[in-house]
Amino acid sequence: MQSYSSNRLREAFLAFFRDRGHAVIPSASIIPDNDPSVLFTMAGMHPLVPYLMGQPHPGGTRLADVQKCIRTGDIDEVGDASHLTFFEMLGNWSLGDYFKREAIAWSWEFLTSKSYLGIDPERLAFSVFAGDENAPRDQEAHDLWLKAGAKKEQIFFLPAENNWWKPGPTGPCGPDTEMFFITDKPPCGPDCSPACDCGRYLEIWNDVFMQYNRLENGELVPLAKKNVDTGMGLERTICTLNGQKSVYDTDAFSAIIAKIETLSDVKYGADDESTRAIRIIADHTRTSTMILGDEKGITPSNVDQGYVLRRLIRRAVRMGMKIGLPENSLRQIAEVIIAQYEGVYPELERAKAQVLEQFELEEQRFQRTLRQGLREFEKAVQRLSGSTQIDAATAFRLYDTYGFPIEITTELAKERNLGIDEAGFAERFRQHQQLSKAGAEQRFKGGLADSSEQTARLHTATHLLHAALRKVLSEEVAQRGSNITTERLRFDFSFPRKVAKEELDEVERLVNEAIAADYPIAEEEMTVDEAKAQGAIGLFESKYGERVRVYTMGPVSKEICGGPHAGHTGELVAFKIQKEEASSAGVRRIRAVIEAE
Ligand code: ALA
Repeated sequence: MQSYSSNRLREAFLAFFRDRGHAVIPSASIIPDNDPSVLFTMAGMHPLVPYLMGQPHPGGTRLADVQKCIRTGDIDEVGDASHLTFFEMLGNWSLGDYFKREAIAWSWEFLTSKSYLGIDPERLAFSVFAGDENAPRDQEAHDLWLKAGAKKEQIFFLPAENNWWKPGPTGPCGPDTEMFFITDKPPCGPDCSPACDCGRYLEIWNDVFMQYNRLENGELVPLAKKNVDTGMGLERTICTLNGQKSVYDTDAFSAIIAKIETLSDVKYGADDESTRAIRIIADHTRTSTMILGDEKGITPSNVDQGYVLRRLIRRAVRMGMKIGLPENSLRQIAEVIIAQYEGVYPELERAKAQVLEQFELEEQRFQRTLRQGLREFEKAVQRLSGSTQIDAATAFRLYDTYGFPIEITTELAKERNLGIDEAGFAERFRQHQQLSKAGAEQRFKGGLADSSEQTARLHTATHLLHAALRKVLSEEVAQRGSNITTERLRFDFSFPRKVAKEELDEVERLVNEAIAADYPIAEEEMTVDEAKAQGAIGLFESKYGERVRVYTMGPVSKEICGGPHAGHTGELVAFKIQKEEASSAGVRRIRAVIEAE
């Protein structure tokens, strides 16, 4: 069999769809824009939701990309042969353009043509939606696979559990057809099919036929325009096509693991325990590099994405300790990761110095207390006398004083066949902190939010704030990050010192003045050059190629942005800054709220 590499698969995929009229767009941020319901981008379609719902995309109606994705739902499984917290997803989209006929014909061609993946058609299997009380059986997809060249016995009708794709409880969704590679494993029984996880059928690609929008009340309404959303996990596909046993054996990990081997002097594969530790270090450092290297400026903290980042880095440090990784190794491993990916994700190169610095700082912070914390844990184990649970006071002290994310304490306990008093810990934690991590985790598990009016207004407030800061402080102020929940906005911007009270008051006054003026908010599409000529601010490295969307709010703000926004500034009623603080070196952070109509 041919040997497939990450670069080859990425390039072949994008070239294939470019040749078929698709605009190749760069990966969107790994932190969703204005979607408070999830912490990370989990699929290629996620940043495209507004366009799947009908908003025109500046790139046109056919798009293809490779998207950075993070899924931490299975984080505890990382260390086995297949689980990853970060992965790359290749995708092609039709936004109300082509539908099943072209999507299936192209999937077949890309998989089987000798000019592309060249997979022997006998090695492929396909699943299609069997139908249920909500939506009919997808006979059309079945017939299209037959027409493309598949045999009847290669096509399986499966229920919604397998062949209905939805990003969350609400939002765009529809039947899908999945493509599987058939391995050398014999069938596990007479009913062996792509639905079982015996290892004979490995999924490599998914074409979703997005025909519906599921509303809050559960109702399925047909979308005005039918879309195609496809997803191919890069690492898993390469592993499968190369017949490798683990995703960690692919070229995505070879340089990273080699670096860990050199630094620790432990050979990957020497024994199960160190193999697991090396995989966790490799995966978590790669994911952390992607979070730190993203344009949103996330740094380790105790809430939201910052908490996940902290947990990933600290778990990697603890695993490093198990295999004798010297202090400050993560920074060196991150250097290898950046070198490997900066050609694909140029933001990594731009953020390199900051990423490496953050690894160093967070590792130092944790290393300072790690040994003491582990001793504390040992003492608690010795005190147990009969109990099989680590008490809440110890778990909380490890969190609060020694910086152990609760998951690390849970993991330490599990290694001794112990539990921890989770309820007791949660209670102490709740008392300690209003913004509990549990809240963040819950949001992470939730579905995609619709772009609620409140979110749109906070987004508008962010533009007014940005403009006011530039006016009051300096034209040098530039956005470094933005995060909106339904309650508040958070805006990070470059500025070298603390913002004085008087300055904040003036910023607040200017924003409220713009609100009182009730400017209509105009939305226009134009080229980057036109936007620059008109003096628009914002991220000029357009994500979507040539054409960008510009929002104008009277004479006060003109900014490039994907939206959505309020209709007029008066909808915001009143604006209040709650807090100004340092975010990282040279970056300040403002939290603010609005009072809406
Ligand atoms: N959105 C689909 C997936 O993530 C393609 O599998």
